[in-house]
Parts: sequence; C-alpha cells; structure tokens
Amino acid sequence: MVIQECRIINLPKISDATKGNLSFVESRKHIPFDIARVYYLYDVPGGEERGEHAHKTLEQFIIAMSGSFDVVLDDGYQKKRFHLNRAYYGLYVCPMMWRKLENFSSGSVCLVLASDFYKESDYIRDYKTFLEAVRKRDSGETDSSDKKDG
Ligand code: TYD
Repeated sequence: MVIQECRIINLPKISDATKGNLSFVESRKHIPFDIARVYYLYDVPGGEERGEHAHKTLEQFIIAMSGSFDVVLDDGYQKKRFHLNRAYYGLYVCPMMWRKLENFSSGSVCLVLASDFYKESDYIRDYKTFLEAVRKRDSGETDSSDKKDG
C-alpha cells in the first residue's frame, strides 16, 4: 500500500438555493469498500491530536462534516498532509498507513466510514513496529509460521 492510493474523493452535492446542500456516500460506488462501521470525533480540544496509529487491513473514508482539521498520512517512506474542511469530499485511507489528525478547528466534527467493525487486533499503535512491518512486507519476508520444512 503506497500513499498515492490515498486520495481525496469528491461526493455528490445536491444544492438547493433555499434549502441548502445534501451529500451522500454509497458503498463501492463513491468509496472503494463496503461500510461496516461509522464513528465520529467531536469536541476535540484545540491543540489535541488524534490517530497516531496504523491499521493492518482497515480501509477508511474521512470527512470533515463540520469545521476543519488536517490528516497527515505516512506510508513508512513518505508523508502527505491533507486539509479537510468541506462535507462534500473526503479522504480515502488505505491499510498500512500511519495517520495523525491535528489542527482541529473549534466545533469540528470528523466522520469516519470504516470497512470493518472495531478490532483492536487490527491496530499498530507503535511507530517503530509499523516501520518494521512495512520493511518486512517490502522485503518479501514471510512469517516463520508460513515457512514449510524442506
Ligand atoms: P482510537 O481509534 O485509538 O482513537 P484515536 O486514534 O482517534 O485517538 O480509539 C480510542 C478508543 O475508542 C480506544 O479505546 C478504542 C475505542 N474505539 C471503539 O471502541 N470503537 C471504535 O469504533 C473506535 C474507532 C474506537
């Protein structure tokens, strides 16, 4: 998984001059996975950071439903910063991406659509362990449990 796979995806926006806007997300149509879970971050105090972990298999789509914040992605080789500040687009985050969310504006709401239920076993919460996993993957090493005798 490389950072180029992570990208901003624009969503449909139905605008009505008097009634306001409506946007929507459909699984496998606007985003490349089926949505299994929705969660949101809110009331994040100024200066606080969230994230600081990677997921082994989870795919996510992050939308700034209100206000703004930055998502910094790191694939173990390079970093990229995305500023999210509109509800009609979001950031697709592929697996094995270290992420940090920061610069939350006051009153901001971060909505996350996720491809699976919450599983702590899918998290990598230590940056050094993340880098080791990336290097191991890219060197083609397999787990010793995968190796067969002879
Ligand atoms: P975490 O993903 O570590 O949040 P962040 O990286 O934004 O700080 O989750 C914080 C806590 O919430 C952690 O104890 C796990 C729990 N949690 C759930 O129980 N279900 C969920 O869907 C999520 C995202 C977190």
